[in-house]
Amino acid sequence: MSESAAPKRRMFGSGTTIEDLKVYMAPFVDRLGYKFNTETEFVDEVLESELEILEATGDIFCPCRVRSGDPKEDAKIVCPCIPFFRDQFAGISKCWCGLFILRDVEDGADLLGVIEEVHGAVEAPVFLAEDVPPGQIRRVKIGKRDVAVANVDGEFFALSNVCRHAFGPLGEGFMDGPVVMCPWHGWRYDVRDGTTDHPNADVKTYETVVRDGEVFVIVEMK
Ligand code: SF4
Ligand code: FES
Repeated sequence: MSESAAPKRRMFGSGTTIEDLKVYMAPFVDRLGYKFNTETEFVDEVLESELEILEATGDIFCPCRVRSGDPKEDAKIVCPCIPFFRDQFAGISKCWCGLFILRDVEDGADLLGVIEEVHGAVEAPVFLAEDVPPGQIRRVKIGKRDVAVANVDGEFFALSNVCRHAFGPLGEGFMDGPVVMCPWHGWRYDVRDGTTDHPNADVKTYETVVRDGEVFVIVEMK
């Protein structure tokens, strides 16, 4: 299928405006811990370019991302692409081009258009603490990492989402105190240290931090 014949996302047909993109994207990125850059002229320029690409391709790719032609791969760089690069973006406080910046950055002027390599520990925002009450667990993607974050009596713990039995999603499991029970066949893991009764089947855990009502998972970038 040629690019111009690609189906358009229903919400982004012809006639889509910069304001439409803002209305769609702002709440979406807010849930991921981001907001539009405070440099509104820059924001409008990037979105204008995205609209031109929408006309040509049928979707909202940003000008700084190079499409591969593979629809599955390219789906990862449809704007906003934050879920797929959450770890790298947390390390630079912005997405690649700086259209979006972390919510707690007050002035985004220094975060325009620079793409950097990220190394070391980064704090990736995952959700607002109030969204996951005590006794609940939620699955989050942090870059390529598949992670489950649990609230145990107001304290947050992060562990691998992937059950070592048959790869069940622990983030969709059932909490019993500090223990999560895998929804598929019931293996139990202590979310505080990733341990289970099954031999050699403990899962990796991650440090967390809560700041201004937001939960961050600390991941290591190599
Ligand atoms: S890098 Fe920023 S502007 Fe580009 S697709 Fe990702 S979120 Fe959108
Ligand atoms: S996959 Fe988790 S218990 Fe089987």
